[in-house]
Amino acid sequence: MPKFYLSTPIYYVNAAPHIGHAYTTIVADTIKRIRRMLGDDAYLVTGSDEHGQKVERAATAAGLEPLQFTDRVSAAFRREWEQLGLEVDFFRRTSDPRHALAVREVFRRCLKNGAIYKGAYTGKYHLGDEAFVTDEEAAAADPELITTVTEENYFFRLSAFQQPLIDLYESQPDFIRPETRRNEVLAFVRSGLKDLSISRSTLKWGIPLPNDPEHVFYVWFDALTTYISALGFGDADGPGEYERLWPADVQLVGKEIVRFHAVYWPAFLMAADLPLPRQIWAHGWLIFQGGKMSKTKGNIVRALPIKEVVGTDGLRHYLLREIVFGQDGHFSHEALARRYNADLANGLGNLASRTASMLSRYCGGEIPDPSGGDDGGLPELAATCIERAVAHYAKYSFSHAIDAVWTLLARADKYIVEHRPWELAKRADAGSAQQLSATLYNSAETLRVAAVLLAPVLPTGAQGVWESLGLAGAVRDERLDLLAWGSLKPGDTAGRQRAIYPRLDVGKAVARMEALEAESLQEQAKLLGQPDAPAAVTIDTPPIEISDFAKVDMRVGLVQAAQRVKKSDKLLRLTVDIGEAEPRTILAGIAAEYAPEEVKGRRIAVVANLKPRKMMGVVSQGMVVAASLPGGEARLAGFDKDTPPGARLS
Ligand code: MSP
Repeated sequence: MPKFYLSTPIYYVNAAPHIGHAYTTIVADTIKRIRRMLGDDAYLVTGSDEHGQKVERAATAAGLEPLQFTDRVSAAFRREWEQLGLEVDFFRRTSDPRHALAVREVFRRCLKNGAIYKGAYTGKYHLGDEAFVTDEEAAAADPELITTVTEENYFFRLSAFQQPLIDLYESQPDFIRPETRRNEVLAFVRSGLKDLSISRSTLKWGIPLPNDPEHVFYVWFDALTTYISALGFGDADGPGEYERLWPADVQLVGKEIVRFHAVYWPAFLMAADLPLPRQIWAHGWLIFQGGKMSKTKGNIVRALPIKEVVGTDGLRHYLLREIVFGQDGHFSHEALARRYNADLANGLGNLASRTASMLSRYCGGEIPDPSGGDDGGLPELAATCIERAVAHYAKYSFSHAIDAVWTLLARADKYIVEHRPWELAKRADAGSAQQLSATLYNSAETLRVAAVLLAPVLPTGAQGVWESLGLAGAVRDERLDLLAWGSLKPGDTAGRQRAIYPRLDVGKAVARMEALEAESLQEQAKLLGQPDAPAAVTIDTPPIEISDFAKVDMRVGLVQAAQRVKKSDKLLRLTVDIGEAEPRTILAGIAAEYAPEEVKGRRIAVVANLKPRKMMGVVSQGMVVAASLPGGEARLAGFDKDTPPGARLS
């Protein structure tokens, strides 16, 4: 069996697991499932990046020793992957002494080959934290505490690898994917490489250098070696998988760390005379309401609250279908819930439950014989979809692969409507009976094909569909490359109808995910040893005069009508009476939180003297006042007693 080794980055333990970490790991799990279903022996490594100043500081803040702290947080990552059903083969912690064996061995080899030297490192040093800080951190710190320090460090001769790296990228154009990242890295390397400081004598929490234990390895040399330490490199008693599995077939990374993986990592390996990974695949970022996820913005999204509401399949489907792998993609709970309903509840789930129910009602719970009836072209379409989906999967174009399966499912839906089995069943002639059998066979067979194709993305639902057709065993044990139309056997017993993906009320589902998210905040604070209370709000806007405030003319408005704005999932178009002769048209970015009927009749606060602004082809004659919650959602300001439209707020 050919092997397939893949890895995710190892995640820093100074934060609790969030959906960004889950995204990479879900993609890795999907690739692993695809490779298994293509006949490979696939092996997935992930882990936790535990050394360094940031973690040391986080541990101190939590009143713990670094190892106690990292024990706790790395366990949370492992638990997270288990709860999300992700099939990790090996979880490497960089604090594991076995990892240190590999790091030291790579270092020794680099040293022997002349790629390491001792030199002077000059950097900004924080006197309070007793640590080097980045330029950004220095700028944000109290200037009194920042000084410039020069210390002896070990350096890696990265500059010597400029040409070998360029040769690598040119001789193996697929080494860095996608192309945009390859171009960036090429440009970066062509512009010249500086040697890299790889040790610190000012830091305690790290792996000591074998030849100079006063120094510990500084982050990337330590972290990147995980990908071989996890296999037992340099460790006679380790898992013993290095010879079999290395080099990696694909290493997944977020786009912000592609440089470390595509420049430093191959250079370290070249210097140590070790084989290079075959491919570094850099994916994009999940973007949230209000931009990138950040603690200060309070818009961090977690995977487990989502799983509670839409299951792991709902989360996987959204991340893999909605976001084009390699590009940035938007994430919102509402879009996720809508996608779930449209594709999983109303699409696949509904087709599966209708088909199972009709098999039991009209065919005595048996797979019928399709001979002689119209097949609606489904067998040919299925063949094309199988080919397309498998080809896209092999290139990690998940969204295109899934689209191909949905083309097939949509055709099957249409085919059922065209033949109306419920009417055929009422007729007594042989032709109708034949067509009824054909219709149900072809629908069931479409579902079987779809279940196999979707098993890597939707492991739970695919197995549910499989069982609803009465098929034995696990769908994951099927082979994608051997999949062909026509395996269901007439006369075999079909399964029972089941609700694979229950339909959701979108508003309630979103509210539930957000409530669970808020509940998990305390747990996370506990995990990281932070005080329970969420950070106090700091108001840092400059003071204004009352006359400044008076420039804003705010009025009570009564919403007379509200409707959605076409092609916008954010905007509602409101007709608001603010006491003038004519009501105003005002666009409000509240459609994600409020249905039009919820807003009609409400008394709201309106900024009445804002310059009119055109959005989505409509001129907005004012602005609605709403609170913006930490996650970015809006809550309308209102009035507790009847207040006449037009009254001024002051
Ligand atoms: N510890 C380093 C990696 C060392 S690998 C030898 C690190 N850790 S991290 O905790 O910051 O995780 C970064 C990875 O998490 C990203 O590369 C990406 O895979 C994933 N993501 C974190 N936030 C993300 C998004 N908002 N969107 C998508 N993925 C993101 O860097």
